[in-house]
Amino acid sequence: MVLKAELHNHLEGTASPELVKRLASRNSMSLPSELFNDDETFKWTTFLEFLKAYDLASSVIKTPEDYRDVTYQYLKQCAGQNAIYVEVMSSPDHAAMAGMSYQDHLDGIVQGIEDAQAYFDVVGRIIVTCVRHLGPERSIEVAKQVVNNPHPLVVGFGMGGDENAHHLSDFSPAFNLCHEAGLLCNVHAGEMAGPESVHAALDHLPVKRIGHGVRSIEDPELIQRLIDQDITLEVCPGSNIALGVYSSFADHPFLKLREAGCKVTLSSDDPPFFHTSIGHEYDIASKHFSLSDEELTGITRTSLENAFADQKTKDKLLARL
Ligand code: ADE
Ligand code: ZN
Repeated sequence: MVLKAELHNHLEGTASPELVKRLASRNSMSLPSELFNDDETFKWTTFLEFLKAYDLASSVIKTPEDYRDVTYQYLKQCAGQNAIYVEVMSSPDHAAMAGMSYQDHLDGIVQGIEDAQAYFDVVGRIIVTCVRHLGPERSIEVAKQVVNNPHPLVVGFGMGGDENAHHLSDFSPAFNLCHEAGLLCNVHAGEMAGPESVHAALDHLPVKRIGHGVRSIEDPELIQRLIDQDITLEVCPGSNIALGVYSSFADHPFLKLREAGCKVTLSSDDPPFFHTSIGHEYDIASKHFSLSDEELTGITRTSLENAFADQKTKDKLLARL
């Protein structure tokens, strides 16, 4: 039994179509039928369409109880696949669009994490994210909410959204604010944009980890930079295939990155949208990248060593491997 850990998923994007429908009905909302395929999966084709579908699905998460349920269901699923540690990325912007305050969204997520830990012995932590295409001003508002409402389970600050909107340097103020308050940072780069976007992240933002970063493989100097700066890559192979970043697992650079000496980890990103799960990502690594159970446990070790939780928590988890 391989124990697992996950560093990269978007909380609102973890809710299954079934849960999204249940929350919609609980909140007396109707969802457009275009959100779903006939087989009850989420419907989208391009990355920008995916982001729209994501926004629509998130709109049904309207109360602290809803956030609690989304978090709890996700951690329960992860624990069922032998995950012992999961960092979830929350999005106060999506909560605000659904009419919820920062504190309400946080309270719900914290309750979900506490309940899941009590029932399933899975440890959860929160990375609060801003949304790149909403712009730098909004990112500062989110950063201020984070630093003005510190919580022990909030361990990081990050950013998702459209990688081609704005420049990463525009977001330095928001990241610096959180970094100076003691939070660790990650950012999406090198997924929909090339290696220059990973260079930009390292040039302008105080990040310890890169969300995806797979396209770093196109630039040998960048690979050396990632090694020298001890950066961890949050690799999500299933997501990369679903979004067409690579056309097959045989073309995916996971093994090349690993063999070049980069710290690589495994995550599921937006599992129901990409027909995956943390368990499935480990299965992909076993089947397509030929990793042994021992090597997969090594991936979990890398994830835990580079998790944003405090060292004592990480040491306890590492002792379980
Ligand atoms: N927001 C939710 N999922 C995302 C992804 N895979 N990339 C960028 N932003 C996101
Ligand atoms: Zn992501």
